[in-house]
Amino acid sequence: MHVLHAEPLRPYNTLALDARAKALVRVGSDAALVEALAWAADRGLAVVPLGEGSNVVFAGDLDALVLRVDTRGIELLEERDDQVAMRVAAGENWHHLVQWSLRHGLYGLENLALIPGTVGAAPIQNIGAYGVELAPFVRRVHGVTVDRREAQSLAGSACRFGYRDSIFKGELQDQLVITSVELQLSRRSPVQADYPALASALRQRGVDQPTHQAVFDAVVDIRRSKLPDPARVPNAGSFFKNPVLPAARARELSRQFPGLPQYPQADGAVKLPAAWLIDYCGWKGHRRDGLGVHPEHALVIVNYGNNRGSALLALAAEVSRSVLDTFGISLEIEPRIYGGAR
Ligand code: FAD
Ligand code: EPU
Repeated sequence: MHVLHAEPLRPYNTLALDARAKALVRVGSDAALVEALAWAADRGLAVVPLGEGSNVVFAGDLDALVLRVDTRGIELLEERDDQVAMRVAAGENWHHLVQWSLRHGLYGLENLALIPGTVGAAPIQNIGAYGVELAPFVRRVHGVTVDRREAQSLAGSACRFGYRDSIFKGELQDQLVITSVELQLSRRSPVQADYPALASALRQRGVDQPTHQAVFDAVVDIRRSKLPDPARVPNAGSFFKNPVLPAARARELSRQFPGLPQYPQADGAVKLPAAWLIDYCGWKGHRRDGLGVHPEHALVIVNYGNNRGSALLALAAEVSRSVLDTFGISLEIEPRIYGGAR
């Protein structure tokens, strides 16, 4: 096992934040993972599993062993009628999996194209975009427990998936390193093209009977036009979750702030776009000391310089304070924060 000590983490997070890990190991197999967990346990070190670092904020140095999950492999498990089950290693790149599925005529994931990160991280916050979430495709999640280093697996129905939420952010937080995800895709699933921005992009292209490939292409184009590429402009995507409010409170706000978009949810609650709230408060395009709020999307906080996470979190706190003062809404940070004194 090759342990890197005091490893700089800048290359390991898409916000390019400057921090160090006490130790870092790349794990390429389940056996290597078990060995690394034992190494950390012997030293009383916490472990932090890491995929591509596209949903983390390193607020300071990490007094932990970072486990960079580098496993690969896609295995077909069974095919019944139009349903195909497959098992995908945690370290596979998510977007590559979406492309692979489409190439093999397996549908369902095309709306989730171009979401950065690994397959192993996808269930953590139940990734979602353009009207689709990961949850209905998850058959099982396999992992190794941190404390006893034993295999554990959960059915998709036991993962308590919600909006940017799962059991892995609750009861099982820091308990399980996900090693693979079983997905169930379909050879005949209907195209999902109702999401307004997607429907209008397809209309603009003159597509009235969209195929799965057309949805994939449109999603890729929309995302490229809206969201900055972290390889050039370091960011973590949406920095805050969209707040979900009781309908009466949302109605009150819409009277007070005409034009505030409202997305009614199945349970009667209403989701509001945090981007609109932040934009309204005048933050869009704000830039100071190498940090800023993206000029094209107010929900994206950008590290333009060589910053540490503590400075970025100070800016995020200013943004969320102004939203609280203006709308009475507390925004919740989406990425997981590690390190530093919090
Ligand atoms: P990391 O950032 O490495 O880790 C995230 C969390 O998961 C950490 O707590 C980590 O410990 C944990 N984790 C990672 N791997 C494992 C594992 N194998 N076992 C246990 N725990 C693990 N998200 C969306 O839902 N929808 C979007 O549309 C979207 N768009 C984005 C756009 C941009 C430009 C960016 C930068 C991010 C976007 N995100 C989006 C967020 C991000 O892509 C997802 O959260 C993604 O799943 C993170 O994958 P990762 O491998 O980078 O995870
Ligand atoms: N808007 C503004 N100002 C802006 C940007 C957007 O007012 O600067 C308004 C738009 O007019 C629109 C609304 O905000 O009405 C929503 O914007 P958008 O369609 O870009 O979606 P979002 O709610 O900001 C969510 C997800 C994204 C996901 C997209 C597409 C969250 C926190 N974010 O963004 O996920 O890709 O929908 O489904 O739910 C991520 O999680 O990192 C992420 C990028």
